[in-house]
Amino acid sequence: MPLDDASAIRARQQVLGFLSDNAVHSGHELAATLGLSHSAVQATLQTLEKLGLDVHAVPGQGYHLPHPVEMLDADTLQRHLHPLSRTHIGRLDLHPHLDSTNTRLMQQARAGTACSGQVCLADSQGAGRGRMGRDWISPPGANVYLSLLWQFENPASLTGLSLALGVAVARALQAEHLTGVNLKWPNDILWQDKKLGGILIEATGTVGGGCQVVIGLGLNRYIPPRLSGAIDQAFTDLYRIQGQAMPSRNRLIAQILNEMIPLLVSYPRQGLAAWLDEWKTLHHWTGREVTLIQGERHVQGVLENISGQGLLILRTPEGTLHEFGSGDVRLKRSASAPF
Ligand code: BTN
Repeated sequence: MPLDDASAIRARQQVLGFLSDNAVHSGHELAATLGLSHSAVQATLQTLEKLGLDVHAVPGQGYHLPHPVEMLDADTLQRHLHPLSRTHIGRLDLHPHLDSTNTRLMQQARAGTACSGQVCLADSQGAGRGRMGRDWISPPGANVYLSLLWQFENPASLTGLSLALGVAVARALQAEHLTGVNLKWPNDILWQDKKLGGILIEATGTVGGGCQVVIGLGLNRYIPPRLSGAIDQAFTDLYRIQGQAMPSRNRLIAQILNEMIPLLVSYPRQGLAAWLDEWKTLHHWTGREVTLIQGERHVQGVLENISGQGLLILRTPEGTLHEFGSGDVRLKRSASAPF
């Protein structure tokens, strides 16, 4: 059965939803309750394993998922949204599976069929995209894959937006009792210097001269161990940090939207200035020796500061200050252990 065939996705959602109680269920019970054939149940369980999930077979009893699963649920999400968020969310789309929530919203924005405040969520992504052309590993059932479209009349008012949004995500996590969140320029969400999430911002112009911005957030709630090898940087997830005490996925998404939406409403007026001090408090790398990577270009220096426009200011070994608007920052290791 192909992985992204509509009926295969539907069966996957049903089986995952059923197994999300972490109890053991027999293949017979799964088939009878979900109205699937035994072979469809077997094929679905195999697909889940192919997608990186651990499905434990308990001899003589059935199957269970040893890890946390919580499917997207519109009612739970709506229940946790603040009135201001509800007012500004023009549309809330929940998809079992998409290539990429950002790609979907960008396509709709270009086609003129998307509205400001449109939210696109997926239970899994087949071609999730990270910054700098990286893949974003997006297994089903646990993590946050969220895109939000916002219309800005004046593109100049977007300066530093990605940094401010990092603060919004950090606040949402803190509200869910996560201590130790920090940020890395420009918009990585870290926990003890390990990547917990990231933001990918894309924009497209509109005829009236304004622009539509798609804010994509990926947040790790649970990355199955067998997918760890596919991630090329130190990472963590909420399950590793908080165990069973980690926040509900749907409530966390609502919480994030409750932080992002007031920010977006006020951003054209307030800009980064309203967020920069908090960003700097959450940023731990000022004064550290780093390498800034832009494709083939590697620039070493001391991370001096972040400008009022959100640019990274680096002091190179010659003592000159340089500003950067994009790139990846890595802590410099000793000369004998280059990265
Ligand atoms: C990063 O590289 O740090 C940014 C990752 C952004 C991933 C999210 S997941 C939801 C949205 N859809 C995508 O394809 N990418 C973003």
